[in-house]
Amino acid sequence: MEKTTIKELLGDYKKLIHHDITVFGWVRAFRSNRFIALNDGSTINNLQIVVNFEEFSEDLIKNINTASSLKITGELVESQGAGQSIEILAKKIEILGDNFFEEMQTTILQPKKHSLEKLREQAHLRFRTNLFGAIFRIRHSVSFAIHQYFNQNQFFYLNTPIITGADAEGAGEMFGVSNFDLNNLPKNEEGEVDFEQDFFGRKTNLTVSGQLEGETASMGLGRIYTFGPTFRAENSNTTRHLAEFWMVEPEVAFNDLEDNIDLAEDFLKYVIQYVLDNCKDDLEFLDKRFSEEQKQKPEKDRAKEGLIEKLENVIAKRFKRVSYTEAIEILMNSKENKKGKFQFPVENWGTDLQSEHERFLVEKHFESPVVLFDYPKDIKAFYMRQNDDGKTVAAMDVLFPGIGEIIGGSQREERLNILKAKMKEMHVDEKELWWYLDTRKFGSVPHAGFGLGLERLVLFVTGMTNIRDVIPFPRTPKNAEF
Ligand code: 4AD
Ligand code: MG
Repeated sequence: MEKTTIKELLGDYKKLIHHDITVFGWVRAFRSNRFIALNDGSTINNLQIVVNFEEFSEDLIKNINTASSLKITGELVESQGAGQSIEILAKKIEILGDNFFEEMQTTILQPKKHSLEKLREQAHLRFRTNLFGAIFRIRHSVSFAIHQYFNQNQFFYLNTPIITGADAEGAGEMFGVSNFDLNNLPKNEEGEVDFEQDFFGRKTNLTVSGQLEGETASMGLGRIYTFGPTFRAENSNTTRHLAEFWMVEPEVAFNDLEDNIDLAEDFLKYVIQYVLDNCKDDLEFLDKRFSEEQKQKPEKDRAKEGLIEKLENVIAKRFKRVSYTEAIEILMNSKENKKGKFQFPVENWGTDLQSEHERFLVEKHFESPVVLFDYPKDIKAFYMRQNDDGKTVAAMDVLFPGIGEIIGGSQREERLNILKAKMKEMHVDEKELWWYLDTRKFGSVPHAGFGLGLERLVLFVTGMTNIRDVIPFPRTPKNAEF
């Protein structure tokens, strides 16, 4: 491309010293009518523009403010000042568009510290801040590394439908999709809504997971992964849940549970290493922010390690692998449980783990990422493979410090008769999933896969604490404005 980004310039400027070049960007600061800090979003670093204001009209200088958009041509020189390698001695400055200065003062573009809540209310402007620039550049790198990892390991990227008739998780947390006029629903003879008259001639919803369709593809392509938007109408207003999030779901023919855990660990470490290697400037900025945030907290609540240090430590060690049964023993016998410190006391084998329990295991007991496996069959989805004990299924969850569950997956039930019995037990309609059952009829094989919530991984690598801050336009209960 003809046009240069500031990132490109800062990285490779030697051959351009004393040449005239043109740059574009937004003003981050304009000091003493002389120094413009220009940013174009390509990097967290600003380019310094030196303006000799006597050479420009007073009118022009007066109109350059924070947030102004500029096109500047000038000579690229090595900088004498501290803090930057190069600067541009401006010869021509053009203001590209309006900047309503008074109005700008009431927005988050006003250069001062704004709360994350306020930044969320102006999500459409927060891309312009250092913090959200860093977060969304890293989000990009995480997505890119995910594709790279799978490509290098002979996985095929596959798109599964967004509108579907299936409830893959059987949890009933779906957003319906219809072309009916909601104020005038057609009824059948029984007085019920007549979905046969709807666009697809049946009830449909936004996907809660591409897994079932992904499984059918893995039964021919071997190794596949999906990476797409996922929708859940769970009314949980937490810092870890979104109504619309992005899920990555690999599915692998011939893999068992242990292969699946190995894949999850290798995959997560690859992506985190990629971010460490390729997002240095943004990570350093976030690392500093993270440390400053820790200093505001009482000593007992402070993180033991810095952000970058945390990422390096996660890569260095093998994740702890612990069965659900072992984990329940640990939780039941813990001081916290006995002293009633958990909001949900752990009383018996078979209960589902709450995020306070997961975080206790990861942050207090093992001080390491933990993979829990072999969960009780009654608290997991119908498609998970039954273990020989008759009580548990070959499920796995990867739990991360500060996050809790980051990955959920399993080996799948490949035996038709056992799968059918399980569906009956869990009231999953066989007729609806006839196509899924077909994969267990014609060359069925052991296979396994998992789902990673992209935003939860981005939370982890950026050190942010609210999932609304790592997706450009968060969809949460009562929030779909932008
Ligand atoms: O554990 P979940 O529900 O598993 C599945 O959907 C499987 N079908 C995946 C598979 O085996 N192919 O979701 C997987 C992951 C969770 O571990 C979490 O990281 C993320 O998706 N997730 C959410 N992220 C943000 N907001 C929500 N509401 C989420 N629900 C799940
Ligand atoms: Mg789960």
